[in-house]
Amino acid sequence: MKALIINNYGGPEQLHLQEVPLPSPSAGEALIRVHAAGINPVDYKMRNGSMRIITGNKFPLILGFDIAGVIEQTKGKSEYRPGDKVFSKLSVRRGGYAEFATASEKHICHIPAGLTMAEAAATPLASLTALQGLQKGDPIKPDDKVLINGASGGVGSFAVQIAKAMGAYVTAVCSERNIQFVKDLGADHVIDYNAEDFTKTKTRYKKVFDAVAKSSFSRSGKILEYGGIYITTIPNKGLLFHRAVNFLRKTSAEFILTKSSGNDLRVIADYIKNGQVRPYVQKEFPLQDGARAHEMIETNRVRGKLVLKVIA
Ligand SMILES: NC(=O)c1ccc[n+]([C@@H]2O[C@H](COP(=O)([O-])OP(=O)(O)OC[C@H]3O[C@@H](n4cnc5c(N)ncnc54)[C@H](OP(=O)(O)O)[C@@H]3O)[C@@H](O)[C@H]2O)c1
Repeated sequence: MKALIINNYGGPEQLHLQEVPLPSPSAGEALIRVHAAGINPVDYKMRNGSMRIITGNKFPLILGFDIAGVIEQTKGKSEYRPGDKVFSKLSVRRGGYAEFATASEKHICHIPAGLTMAEAAATPLASLTALQGLQKGDPIKPDDKVLINGASGGVGSFAVQIAKAMGAYVTAVCSERNIQFVKDLGADHVIDYNAEDFTKTKTRYKKVFDAVAKSSFSRSGKILEYGGIYITTIPNKGLLFHRAVNFLRKTSAEFILTKSSGNDLRVIADYIKNGQVRPYVQKEFPLQDGARAHEMIETNRVRGKLVLKVIA
């Protein structure tokens, strides 16, 4: 099969389309013919070697966690049939930038009707991060105030919609050019981060979800209500210290490490079926143009998601 691989850590030029052996599923896994693969910032962090502690030094390495496609083959007892349309967040080193990938059946979910393959591929990692992040702390109740920082990005655009679906009053933080976009996602209130420091407001929030990890608990913790929680996508030493002493305070600090989960994808699929969540794909690239897609995701300016089309 063809796959977009790297043979060394480095820049986007390391990505090459190459013939590699077809992966074979073990018991409890499925072989999926990939139609589209979603792109996430973690992909370029793996490509440039900053995550080599996880990826190791074995090459070729196929990047990519998010796939949408069709079941080709299952192994053992299975709830899926060849031809079923599925999406999944793969576990590490499985490789989504390829014509085929294997996934644990526990990480797979049927694609809800109405989503294109590109939209389905854009969904798993970012939406799971948003869902699992917003589930930290006490459950959201109707009209709870939730602030999403980085509301226009992959994680943030899902977090705005999922927090709204959970009943929250959502404040979205983004730059001026994305104000209308996050309003269209359903945000009740929008703060332009270049015009206003959201940590200086008198409003108090039940949850501050820092989807882009650009603030800190030291700053954002001040705008939490009693019992409120700050959640970030990237832990640092300060966050780890605050998290260790959560029991001493009336507010808490947490970080999210996203888990692959077919069950959580079913929760998101239900939101999609109900019309409460919709992925937004800013741009699609053919698989062989993965390097251009990586250049774009590294700008940190993507609105919604980028996707590689494996089958045109
Ligand atoms: N721990 C985990 O398991 C996990 C899981 C998923 C993601 N992550 C991490 O979470 C981060 C976000 O992921 P993502 O997929 O959402 O990234 P992304 O889609 O690439 O984020 C891009 C967005 O960030 C916004 N942005 C940039 N600087 C900002 C700032 N100072 N304040 C507010 N918004 C800003 C940009 O909007 P403007 O152009 O309007 O600024 C753009 O829309 C990444 O670092 C990723 O690696 C971690």
